[in-house]
Amino acid sequence: MPDFENKKAIVLGGSSGIGLAATEMLRDAGAEVIVGSRSECDIDGVECVQVDVLDREALRTLFEKHHGFDYLVNAATGGSRAIGPLLEMDLDGFQNSFAKLWGYVNSVRLGVPHMSPDGAVVLISGYPARKWRSGTIAIGSVGGSVEAFIRLSANEITPVRINGVSPGLIDTPMSPLEGEQRENYYRDGTAAHLIPRAGTSAEVASAVIFLLENEFVTGTIVDVDGGAIAT
Ligand SMILES: NC(=O)c1ccc[n+]([C@@H]2O[C@H](COP(=O)([O-])OP(=O)(O)OC[C@H]3O[C@@H](n4cnc5c(N)ncnc54)[C@H](OP(=O)(O)O)[C@@H]3O)[C@@H](O)[C@H]2O)c1
Repeated sequence: MPDFENKKAIVLGGSSGIGLAATEMLRDAGAEVIVGSRSECDIDGVECVQVDVLDREALRTLFEKHHGFDYLVNAATGGSRAIGPLLEMDLDGFQNSFAKLWGYVNSVRLGVPHMSPDGAVVLISGYPARKWRSGTIAIGSVGGSVEAFIRLSANEITPVRINGVSPGLIDTPMSPLEGEQRENYYRDGTAAHLIPRAGTSAEVASAVIFLLENEFVTGTIVDVDGGAIAT
C-alpha cells in the first residue's frame, strides 16, 4: 500500500469510472483529494468541485487555490466522442472528440506551474491509439495525440513528472449499455485479447498509483489492456 500522507491530489474526471477508482485509492492511501467534474459529486472523504476541463478560467482558479499541490490526474473524457469509419465520419464529431486532448492540455499548462517540483501528472490515453479497431479512428487519433503530448511535455515540465496509462476495454459507466447488451459488448470486444474480458477501473487505477508513486518514471505510457495491443 503506497503512503500518500501529506500529499494533495487533484483528480479531474474523478467522479466516475477510472478517475473515481484512482480517487478512492489516493484517499485510502492518505492523500487529500480534490475531485473535479462537471456534475456535482459526493464521495466520502473527498472534496468535490464542479469544473469543466474546457473552462480555462475555472481551472486556473482551482489550481491557484491549491497552489503547491503534488499530484494531477486527468481522466476526464472531455465531451462527446465520434465512433465510426473515417469515410462515413461526421467531421464535427471527429473534431469534437479532441475535447479530451484540450482538457488534458489545459490542465497540464495551467496546473503544473502550481505544483510541487517533485509532483507528478498522469493522463489516460486508450488502446485504440496504437491498435486499429473498427470504428475507433477518432478516439484512436485523440489517444495518439495524448501519448505524444505526454512524451514531449515531459521534457518541458521536468522536474515535475508526467506519464500516461493506456487502458484496454474497461467496464465503466462510460458505456450506457445495460444487461445482456452490455455483457455481449464486453465479451465480443475482448474475445481476441490475450485476457478475454473487460478490465476493471481498479486495475487501471493501480497503474495510475504506480506512476504517481515511482519517482524514477517519466515520459512513458503503461498499457493496462488485457493484451489487446499484443494481439
Ligand atoms: N472505459 C474504457 O473502456 C476506456 C478505454 C480506453 C480509454 N479510456 C479513457 O479513460 C478515461 C476515463 O474513462 P472512464 O471510462 O472512466 O469514463 P467515465 O466513467 O465516463 O468518467 C468520465 C469522467 O470524466 C468527467 N468529465 C467528462 N468530461 C468532463 C469535462 N469536460 N470536464 C470535467 N470533467 C469531465 C465525468 O464527469 P462529468 O460528466 O460530471 O463531467 C466523469 O467523472 C477517459 O479519458 C477515456 O477516454 C476509457
